[in-house]
Amino acid sequence: MEGNVILIGFMGAGKSTVGKLLARALGHEFVDTDARIEADAGRTIPEIFAAEGEPGFRDLESAALREVLRGGPRVISTGGGVVLRPENREAIRRGGHCVWLAVDPATVWDRVRRETHRPLLRTPDPEGTIRRMLAEREPVYRETAHWCLDTAGRDPESLVREMVDWLHERSA
Ligand code: S3P
Repeated sequence: MEGNVILIGFMGAGKSTVGKLLARALGHEFVDTDARIEADAGRTIPEIFAAEGEPGFRDLESAALREVLRGGPRVISTGGGVVLRPENREAIRRGGHCVWLAVDPATVWDRVRRETHRPLLRTPDPEGTIRRMLAEREPVYRETAHWCLDTAGRDPESLVREMVDWLHERSA
């Protein structure tokens, strides 16, 4: 299978878990844009948000995306907001096979409620924030992805098998 595979979707969709397994199945390198941003900046994502706000983080994210799309083939897992900038959506669609891992708000909440590293969910009503952000972003994920995979009730291994089949059909 030629080319990068880029996983997009909301926080808690399982992009990193599925991405690592998919990379192993395809024999590709795995990269995560959030991890790349932190390594390049020598700071954590909450530290970057605190110092530079969301616009500063988005600049670093756009730069990290461009960096990881060069070369490859890789499996690239992205931060949930990477699709907010039109130029990133364009770069993703051109840069490889893009799969949207779709997830419902209740599952997101269940997965992220015990975690503290997502600045955008540090609000008085994180459940409401998740519902609102998901509704706003769904059209943008749909516009960017070449394929949507519904993750509800699915285990990562079965998602990976389905993705491998789709990639083979797409490359055939
Ligand atoms: C964000 C998602 C996070 C991280 C940052 C912003 C977003 O990544 O990039 O906190 O805007 O949805 P994950 O989707 O890996 O949690």
